Amino acid sequence: MSKCLLMLITFFSLAFNAFSLTKEEIDVLAQAKKPTHLLSENNPGGCKSCHAGIRYSGSEEEVQCYTCHGPKTKASKKLEKIRINVKQSKDVASDFDKPYKHPVEKRGLHKYGEVFPVTNPNVPRHSECLDCHSPHDSLPEVPHWGVSGVTIDGKFVKKAYYEYEVCFKCHGADANKPVYQRNKIREFNPNNPSYHPVVEKGKNNYLPSLKEGLTYETIIKCSDCHGSDTKGSRRARGVHGSNNDYILVSPYTKKEETLKPEYDLCYECHRKESILNNESFPFHREHIEGLKARNWKGTSCSTCHNPHGSEKNKFLIEFNPDYVTKETTTNRLEFKSEGIFRGSCYLKCHNVEHNPKSYAK
Ligand code: HEC
Ligand code: HEC
Ligand code: HEC
Ligand code: HEC
Ligand code: HEC
Ligand code: HEC
Ligand code: HEC
Repeated sequence: MSKCLLMLITFFSLAFNAFSLTKEEIDVLAQAKKPTHLLSENNPGGCKSCHAGIRYSGSEEEVQCYTCHGPKTKASKKLEKIRINVKQSKDVASDFDKPYKHPVEKRGLHKYGEVFPVTNPNVPRHSECLDCHSPHDSLPEVPHWGVSGVTIDGKFVKKAYYEYEVCFKCHGADANKPVYQRNKIREFNPNNPSYHPVVEKGKNNYLPSLKEGLTYETIIKCSDCHGSDTKGSRRARGVHGSNNDYILVSPYTKKEETLKPEYDLCYECHRKESILNNESFPFHREHIEGLKARNWKGTSCSTCHNPHGSEKNKFLIEFNPDYVTKETTTNRLEFKSEGIFRGSCYLKCHNVEHNPKSYAK
């Protein structure tokens, strides 16, 4: 591969979040480029800036990483004292200070040859920088390069190519997940009738709401939705921490009848005007904004859509059982698609029986 092509791959993968690299492209990059931390321009101190008198126990590495990836710390001053040049880099430390975050500060949970929680529910849950990053291998285009993962088929691999494979290590079939969390391997299964296109390109090529530049062939990443809420040049990429619940990049309300609900997250990629002008589902606006006449304040996208995927229905339809129950005539809780922008719902919600209620544009 020519140098020019290599530069193009680098440019596209950094300029567009949604641009996703193929296995072959990643292999080419990994062979052609020296890992970030072993380049003297990034790390003038070389091996010593991480290994000088500091033993990595594998459980407190975040303190060492914050030397460069955080505000100036005691550790960086200590390194300067022994004349190791520290180059301050993207600050991820302040994202980990936010209320919703990956719990990297739980100490001493990693052991050599540890049993992964997938097999043993009694192993405590944890996440460390090193679960998602390998400082000897990582590349700007592939920050998780060198880290293990689990494929969409549920197989453990030593080197994860795709970001989602890293996530599936802990958000797949693990026996020790919090009860409200769902198995992401099942939600993103390409055999499902619908899913957000993280693992495979989408199945629906007729979506009036998609913003310009996005098509049904676009691949997105978990980190397009989950990550820092900081905007602008100080933003560090990565699923580290956020002021938004569920570590989301933009505000999103899941609860019903909230005073000031926000769906900015969805509107990053779907046109708000299109959704609220009922360009697809003709009753979007009245469900999202509510009905003054009934004194009903409206409901969240999550009441009808699963943001990841649906094992049963098209259009990511999966009703939130907290608000939607069976209709009482025939005891059904069902969505039926009946053609383009036509369908029927059998359910009970906000005290209204749908047995069924149908829509057609
Ligand atoms: C950016 C920080 C960083 C730099 C730079 C770095 N290392 Fe490491 N190194 C680590 C961390 C973190 C571990 C612990 C890895 C683990 O527990 O999985 C480690 C582990 C090791 C180990 C133990 C075996 C292993 O691979 O787990 C050796 C040997 C090692 N490093 C050598 C080096 C050498 C030689 C250099 C310079 C060429 C270097 N390191 C540069 C962070 C760094
Ligand atoms: C000596 C300073 C230094 C230390 C210590 C350090 N980094 Fe970095 N790191 C950098 C620089 C410089 C970059 C490149 C610029 C950027 O992305 O901010 C970088 C980039 C990264 C990236 C982005 C992907 C890439 O390869 O470009 C990741 C991920 C990362 N570092 C993780 C870590 C982790 C985890 C640790 C602790 C084990 C660590 N770093 C310790 C300086 C450091
Ligand atoms: C080594 C295990 C591990 C890996 C790998 C991992 N996570 Fe997590 N994640 C956790 C733990 C532990 C929590 C804290 C809550 C819990 O126990 O699930 C968490 C929490 C979350 C939350 C917040 C959930 C909530 O209920 O508020 C999101 C979102 C998330 N992770 C997404 C991701 C994504 C995206 C990736 C891949 C880039 C990933 N995780 C990789 C262990 C992991
Ligand atoms: C299109 C945006 C989007 C993408 C892409 C996305 N998520 Fe989420 N995720 C959300 C939203 C919104 C919520 C919270 C609301 C809800 O659960 O209805 C959430 C919740 C979660 C939770 C906590 C609750 C649960 O369902 O378990 C975890 C864990 C999580 N996501 C992990 C992931 C992982 C791993 C990936 C990639 C494989 C991913 N997400 C991709 C939007 C997204
Ligand atoms: C990072 C961009 C991005 C974000 C954020 C996003 N979407 Fe999407 N969404 C897409 C893309 C791309 C598709 C096209 C997939 C296809 O063609 O099947 C899509 C498709 C959909 C579909 C149709 C799926 C089908 O198979 O018919 C629904 C419904 C949907 N999104 C709802 C949401 C909701 C609700 C949110 C907020 C929680 C959201 N999206 C946030 C990019 C995004
Ligand atoms: C749960 C997985 C996870 C954990 C834990 C995690 N990261 Fe990340 N990090 C990511 C992902 C995913 C990206 C890349 C996101 C993207 O491509 O947009 C990333 C990106 C980064 C970057 C690049 C920032 C930029 O804007 O260039 C740095 C630096 C980094 N991580 C450092 C760290 C450090 C230091 C720790 C521990 C304190 C850590 N990460 C813990 C998932 C994680
Ligand atoms: C009351 C249930 C309900 C709620 C609440 C709801 N939707 Fe939908 N949505 C649907 C149905 C049903 C369809 C499928 C319409 C069809 O094509 O038959 C749909 C289709 C979609 C589509 C795919 C077609 C298109 O317009 O591109 C997107 C995207 C979407 N919804 C986004 C959202 C977002 C964002 C929210 C919250 C702001 C939301 N929906 C709230 C029921 C709902």
